[in-house]
Amino acid sequence: MTTTADTAERAWRVAAAPRRLPLVGHALSMGRRPLEFLGSLPELGDLVELRIGSRPAFLPCHPELVQRVLLNARVYDTGGPVKEKARPILGNGLITSDWSDHRRQRRLVQPAFHKARIAAYAEVMQEECAAHAASWEAGQPVDVSDAMQGLTARVTARALFSTEMAPDAVVEIQRSLPVMVRGAYRRAVDPTGLLARLPLAANREFDRALGRLHALIDGIISGYRQAAEDRGDLLSALLNARDEDGSRLSDQEVHDQVMTLLLAGVETTASALTWAWHLLAGHPEVAARLHAEVDEVLDGRTPTYADIPRLKYTQRVFTETLRLYPPAWMFTRAVTEDTELGGHRLPAGTDVLISPYVIHRTPGLFADPETFEPDRWLPERAAEVARGAYLPFGAGSRKCIGDVFGMTEATLALAALASRWRLLPMPGHEVRAHAGMSLTTGPLPMIPEPR
Ligand code: HEM
Repeated sequence: MTTTADTAERAWRVAAAPRRLPLVGHALSMGRRPLEFLGSLPELGDLVELRIGSRPAFLPCHPELVQRVLLNARVYDTGGPVKEKARPILGNGLITSDWSDHRRQRRLVQPAFHKARIAAYAEVMQEECAAHAASWEAGQPVDVSDAMQGLTARVTARALFSTEMAPDAVVEIQRSLPVMVRGAYRRAVDPTGLLARLPLAANREFDRALGRLHALIDGIISGYRQAAEDRGDLLSALLNARDEDGSRLSDQEVHDQVMTLLLAGVETTASALTWAWHLLAGHPEVAARLHAEVDEVLDGRTPTYADIPRLKYTQRVFTETLRLYPPAWMFTRAVTEDTELGGHRLPAGTDVLISPYVIHRTPGLFADPETFEPDRWLPERAAEVARGAYLPFGAGSRKCIGDVFGMTEATLALAALASRWRLLPMPGHEVRAHAGMSLTTGPLPMIPEPR
């Protein structure tokens, strides 16, 4: 290990990850057990070098170094092989755009997530959560992972499109999106780039799902352009957005943003909600306090947007779930020009890995980091959390644009379902974290018990 001084105020520990293999570097450890492997690195240093194949990559393990990366989006741009593979799927939207174009795109998309708009989307969330709560049957096992995917796909589709085509869109999105997410991840982690070109059934299914989603979105956009009215939904906001010079997003750009929102917004929120049910089942004392809060605030009603400020414990439960199981467990940046981080020179082209999962579980940043403890988010305790130590939504100019949308949706879903149901674990079913496109439980059968 080398110790280098970056600034006068502190010496950073820079280390190399052990057990690097010829040719593949640490790709096998990353492929097989990424959470354990990455989680073992912070004790080595504040900045740890590893190799994915022949590519050098760095993992900042100290929140201050993470902040330096995320707050300098020009030097640490989104990039690397993952972004290149996402482009054919997502086009040029918020996730895939370079720094130079991203600022314009963000200005144009941001109004769609304005507070007043979120209040309108919350009505869709409220309806869907109530319908979902009514759909379960006592004692009939539910795959909670599937159920949460279905719920967030319906909410996002209806928040995007309030058109008369919405029911068709919901069905198509529920059918195609999981195929897309699986295929996109397989492509992202395939170092050869060959997988997508093989004549496999999974590739044909992926191509068909992608084709159907593209056609659906194109059809809806052209219908909206003809009607030329603001329907209060996300798509209207994207179509009506004007930049400072009066320019707007082209139809292709709107299309790419819609694909991006679907891919970024559905699985993330669903995975975190699924983890929340799993954690609640294992922590009856937390579940009891959640139930007490929803009973007091709602008294059997369906929760609405106006209830959210009073659902404080519900929000703490979700905030803590995002700490232990951040859906975006890792994301990447590529260095655009030679630079220095933690006193270490990073040449242009180096990949930087940011892992909220690793940071959130680092001892010293959180007391008992492995313990599920929603009250660590009581305002007076939350104020003590170091800057940059909690980043489920990232940080800086590329911070999640849907953070408030996702928090609102999750709070309403937890409250609506917990006010009617308790979800019991299925005996004998073991839960393990799967680090894919997002951090999931895999199938999670649970048994709903009426409260
Ligand atoms: C609990 C739920 C969610 C989590 C944990 C989450 C997490 C994240 C993270 C970590 C990033 C930053 C990635 C990076 O810096 O490279 C991000 C970006 C993004 N998220 Fe989310 N997200 C969630 C929900 C949503 C929702 C509901 C939507 C849309 C409806 C959404 C849309 C996006 C978009 C478009 C970006 C790219 C933003 C940009 O680069 O300007 N996300 N998300």
